[in-house]
Amino acid sequence: MNGIDTDLHRKAWLQALNSGDTISMSAAAYPDLEILYTRQQIAERVAELGAQITRDLNGEKLVMVGVLKGAAPFLADLARAVQVDATFDFVATSSYGHGSRSSGAVKLIKDLDQPIEGKNVLVVEDILDTGITLAYLRKLFLQQRPKTLRIATLLDKPSRRIEEIKPDYVGFSIPNLFVIGYGMDYAERYRNLPDICLMTPDHPE
Ligand code: IMP
Ligand code: MG
Repeated sequence: MNGIDTDLHRKAWLQALNSGDTISMSAAAYPDLEILYTRQQIAERVAELGAQITRDLNGEKLVMVGVLKGAAPFLADLARAVQVDATFDFVATSSYGHGSRSSGAVKLIKDLDQPIEGKNVLVVEDILDTGITLAYLRKLFLQQRPKTLRIATLLDKPSRRIEEIKPDYVGFSIPNLFVIGYGMDYAERYRNLPDICLMTPDHPE
């Protein structure tokens, strides 16, 4: 056991469930984590982005392409905030190397299921860091000649950029911090935190 699955915790969760309170994963399972953006702040910003994307599409259809796995929660929320006729597709990439930072080269692990020629495509990313992943995907997708190709990223760290990428929709622009939650991971953990939290170097594994 890792110390969080105690009787006390179980009781607190059950109590919160029964009382109808919102259960905070961040608070209950990881009491030490510092929140950068709360679920409410995220929801408000996602609603704004959805309205903006809806306006820009002018009644045309949309293909939303999520970059697995981190973009899944953002795509799910954003898709319900846009008022357009939309379909989903997903790609997965991996950067060579390992750990919390991208290393340089990108490999496509899962390609699009459907062709995007002539379509309005919105690439949905959790966080834009060096830009290497999105520069690779943009080049790949442009070869298929979509009608439009836009990029939505929930977070942007412009100070880390190596490849030039200008996202069309940005949730929040942040300094060079390592963040987790709402899809974003550290070694595959924390993706299910409802809030975006700071990964501090001294946080216990
Ligand atoms: P890029 O190719 O450097 O732009 O990397 C983008 C990818 O790196 C994101 O989709 C994330 O998977 C990962 N990444 C970059 N910064 C963070 C972070 O602060 N937390 C979690 N993942 C991150
Ligand atoms: Mg990602």
